[in-house]
Amino acid sequence: MKSMIDGKKIHLVAATLVDRRRIYEWCFQSETTKSHSGPPDYPEKPIASYQDFCSDYYEEYFFTGAQPKKGQGFLIMTKEEAIGFISYSAFHLKQNYAELDIWMKDEASCGHGYGNDAILALSDYLNQYLAIDQLIIAPSNRNVRAIRSYEKAGFERTDAEMKEFLAEEYTSLYGEGDYGIGETAILIKDFEN
Ligand SMILES: CC(C)(COP(=O)(O)OP(=O)(O)OC[C@H]1O[C@@H](n2cnc3c(N)ncnc32)[C@H](O)[C@@H]1OP(=O)(O)O)[C@@H](O)C(=O)NCCC(=O)NCCS
Repeated sequence: MKSMIDGKKIHLVAATLVDRRRIYEWCFQSETTKSHSGPPDYPEKPIASYQDFCSDYYEEYFFTGAQPKKGQGFLIMTKEEAIGFISYSAFHLKQNYAELDIWMKDEASCGHGYGNDAILALSDYLNQYLAIDQLIIAPSNRNVRAIRSYEKAGFERTDAEMKEFLAEEYTSLYGEGDYGIGETAILIKDFEN
């Protein structure tokens, strides 16, 4: 595993357990939270507690690199500071697939192309070093900024349902997507095309 992945504007550094709480806070307790979770815009996606974040979303191996086949997390860094987080997870998907998640720590870090650059850098890394040739990302349909950034990074919207990408044993748990069928936008990037 490389501990640093270079993009054009940012670089990615493997996140550690020391980073776990602030990464949670950037996701669920920051000014960017309202773009993806909680009322008024996302009542169907509740704000997770730190305990739930650790047990349901981001187990220890995302911060130790101990299980690269299941997933790992990275800080998105400018030259000066950490500005966000990006991860891949594959434990719940069919062979050779991975799902990406990304969020910035504040609004000042959004809209500079950093997210786009982080997605490109991690996508290429996964393809090159972990032989992953199908990537998926599944925001809300209403998260226009996120969808725009992902499309610029080569992802395309698909009508396929989430369950088509999931390993059999996870279809009942994750089959509807985070925002429900019809409200979850599914975008894929296929390195074989
Ligand atoms: C989603 C996110 C990671 C994208 O990273 P980013 O660095 O902000 O995105 P980029 O700068 O690469 O691209 C954003 C694009 O959306 C456009 N955009 C911004 N606000 C927009 C809006 N309200 N409507 C439509 N497009 C919008 C920008 O103009 C830009 O497109 P352009 O380069 O063609 O002008 C980041 O915005 C973020 O962390 N948002 C809050 C958390 C979040 O929503 N995470 C995703 C959960 S699935």
